[in-house]
Parts: sequence; C-alpha cells; structure tokens
Amino acid sequence: MPENSLTVTDNRTGKVYSLPIEHGTIRAMDLRQIKTDPHDFGLLTYDPAFMNTCSCQSRITFIDGDAGILLYRGYPIEQLAEHSTFLETAYLLYRGSLPTREKLKMWVDGVTRHTILHENIRRFLGGFHYDAHPMGIFVATVSALSTFYQESKQIFDPEARRITFYRLVAKVPTIAAFAYRYSIGMPIAYPDNELSYTGNFLNMMFKGTEPRYRPDPVLERALEVLFILHADHEQNCSTSAMRVVGSAHTDPFTAIAAAAAALYGPLHGGANEAVLKMLNVIGSKDKIPEYIRRVKAGEVKLMGFGHRVYKNYDPRARIIKRTADEVFEVTGKNPLLDIALELERIALEDDYFVSRKLYPNVDFYSGIIYQAMGFPTEMFPVLFAMPRVAGWMSQWEEGLLDPEQKIARPRQIYLGAERRDYVPIEQREPALTGSMLP
Ligand code: ACO
Repeated sequence: MPENSLTVTDNRTGKVYSLPIEHGTIRAMDLRQIKTDPHDFGLLTYDPAFMNTCSCQSRITFIDGDAGILLYRGYPIEQLAEHSTFLETAYLLYRGSLPTREKLKMWVDGVTRHTILHENIRRFLGGFHYDAHPMGIFVATVSALSTFYQESKQIFDPEARRITFYRLVAKVPTIAAFAYRYSIGMPIAYPDNELSYTGNFLNMMFKGTEPRYRPDPVLERALEVLFILHADHEQNCSTSAMRVVGSAHTDPFTAIAAAAAALYGPLHGGANEAVLKMLNVIGSKDKIPEYIRRVKAGEVKLMGFGHRVYKNYDPRARIIKRTADEVFEVTGKNPLLDIALELERIALEDDYFVSRKLYPNVDFYSGIIYQAMGFPTEMFPVLFAMPRVAGWMSQWEEGLLDPEQKIARPRQIYLGAERRDYVPIEQREPALTGSMLP
C-alpha cells in the first residue's frame, strides 16, 4: 500500500480500496468507485455547509484557525495592517506579489482614473425608495455596471479582466457613497482624485459645503487598516458564492453582486450591523448578565462572536481593537465600547463560550469604530463589501483559470416522495395536500 493513502473497507461487499491522500485530502470522486454492484451510482459524501470539504485549491489566503493566523499571499495580516495600504494589498491579492514602486504607481493612477460613475447610474439611483438600505442599492448597482461595461463578459481576455478589476476597485467606493447620500437625501459628492483611496471615500461620504474636503489623517489611515483586514478571507460564504456564480462564466460585475448578496446576510457581513443593534438593545452594562442568560438559553445570539474557522481568536479582531483606540482619540469614545468590552470580558470567562471556542470576530469591534467615524449602521455591510471586492476578484480569476474547475454543481440526498401518479383535483384528500396554507 502507498504510504500516502487511505485504505477503506466497504463492509457491505468486503471489498478494500486504496485512496491516495494529497495535501491532507482525499478526492471525493475517488469514492465513486465504491459500489455494491455495477448499477450502483457509487459512494458520495454528505457535507451540508461544506464543513469538511475543500472546494478548490488556492494560493491567495491562508488561515490557521486554531493558531489565529491569517496570511495574504504569505504575508501576515499584522504586517500588512502595519505597513501596507489598501490598494497595495489589493494588488498583492490579485497579482500574487507586492508591486514595485513603478507598478504601484500605475495601479493607483489607474484606479484613480476609474472612480467616476456613468451619469446614468446616478439617474438609476433615483429609482430607489427614499429609505432604501444602502447594501440593497450597492448589490443592484454593482450588477447594473455589467450593462455599462459589456466587454467584461470577455472573461478569457486578460486585458478585459484587468480593466474590470480596475473598474470594480475604483467604482465601489463611489457607488457606496452615492447610495449613502441618496438614502439621506444629500446631493452626491464627486470623487476627488487628489486624495488617497480612503481619503476620497471619506470625501464622497461626508463632504459638506466646504470647497475642498480634507480627511483626518488618523481616520484615513484607520480606514486603510480596516479595508486591509477585510480584503480577503479565503472560501467563506460570499467568496464561495463568487466562485460558484463565476463557474457559470457569468461576468464579474454580476458575480460580485451575488457575492455581495451573500455578504448582506446577518450571519456573514451583516454581523457588524447586528452587533451595533445588539449593543443598543443591551443599552447598559448592568443589562449584560440578562443578555448572556438569553444567549445561553438559545433565545438570541451573541453577535460578533464565533467563527467557522477561528477557534482561538480572530487575529483581525486584535488589530481592530488597537485601531479603535486611535480612532477614539480623534472622535471621542463611542459609549457602546464600554458595553462591548464588558460583554467580551464576561463572555470570555463563561464556560458556555469558552467550551464552544467562541471569541470576538472581526465584526465585534469594526461597527463601533465605523459608528464613531460617522458611518450609519446601514453602511456597515457596504463598508465590508467594498474592500472584499479585491478578494472576490482574485478568487474569481484563480477559479476561472484553474483547469480543474468546472461549473459548480453539488449532489443531494433525495428524501422526498417516490414516483407517484398525478391525482385529479376532485380526488385529492385534504391529508394528502400537505400544508394547510395555500
Ligand atoms: N452566540 C451564541 N452561541 C453561538 C454563537 C453566538 N454568536 N455562535 C455559535 N454559537 C454556538 C452554537 O449555538 C453551537 O452551540 P451548540 O453546540 O450547543 O449547538 C456552537 O456554538 C457551535 O456553533 P455553530 O453554529 O455550529 O458554528 P458555525 O461554525 O456553524 O457558525 C457563525 C459560525 C455563523 C459565525 C456563528 O458563530 C454565528 O452565528 N455567530 C454570530 C454571527 C456573526 O458574528 N457572524 C460573523 C462571522 S465573521 C464574518 O462573517 C466576517
């Protein structure tokens, strides 16, 4: 028997199989040979929520959840948060290596040139209800961009892919800021190409009547750090959505809209918004024990806690806590911080959370910082989606160019009715029609 293999005995037939092990995995398709007879379809795996299934090989992001390690293309997140900018990190994710000075300049200049949106997009925004959620506007508008840039459908043309990457990274802050200003009835603020990526975003969000907006350098840098931390996170729900939709060769704008739709959910990128709502519901430190009791009774979740892969500590949460201190020096402390810190302290001493390895994730503190910076809660998922576009695009292209990837198409275990004949309506018994609801 080869050393790197798994021996499986099928007790139904007594047959023995040797399955190769590579990178700590067996190939699910190798199980298909395991049959009870020649008509048997072959053995399948059942893995709802992909708890133990690798859907791809990737060279982009590495996570060791037990050790609390996160690397982008091999570089520790702590070093990138300390030394890099969001645009440099986006380049690193997409291209695979850090840019030279010259390449970085070309990339930053290119992104800056593409920040403007077609005027029809502005008119299109006017169709949304006045109180539309900015994330809903974001999802729809990113998707609409595919109708403006039809060459993005040429997904096997490297130049078309390159331009689409520039456009997406450049235009998402403009879409996000336009969506916000529309939702509060403010006239939109156009991009200022003299400012940095994050400085310009702050300008488009918060510019008032002043002739030129000057971002606070501490807040500008804090936003860079937050964007770096959110830029990629390997095969999570939204990235998997991006890869699955991309596997059908859908254009990247539309696939990004699908990924953003996944991120919108409160169990994923909507969690930072949910954390703020939770902290407001708790309201004061003395109400924390009662809230913890409800969490342990299964009535509510402690939002911003727990992660599918981090079972030690989310390294991003540690960096964010430091960023929070810097931001609060400028903005003054967010009163919700005291509730969050106390909640974290109590939870980390409680056996319910300790035994389940539930620790604060990236969303626990990011919302408190964003709120202190002046962003409304509805913008939080949008602030998550914007930098994640860099990761989604990198993952999408890697999947597209991977010769092993085909259109994604999982199997199912069918547990429904066996074949039966159609019953004319006058012969149907109420008991046979299932639910009482129409
Ligand atoms: N509060 C209370 N209990 C929790 C929480 C929580 N936040 N998270 C998990 N648990 C409990 C579960 O009830 C379960 O308990 P049980 O074993 O008694 O049934 C146990 O911990 C294991 O949890 P799972 O749901 O199996 O963990 P899973 O990996 O499926 O879920 C998830 C991960 C979705 C992040 C979950 O922890 C959660 O809902 N957290 C709150 C939402 C959140 O903060 N999401 C952001 C994630 S980070 C991101 O997307 C950027």
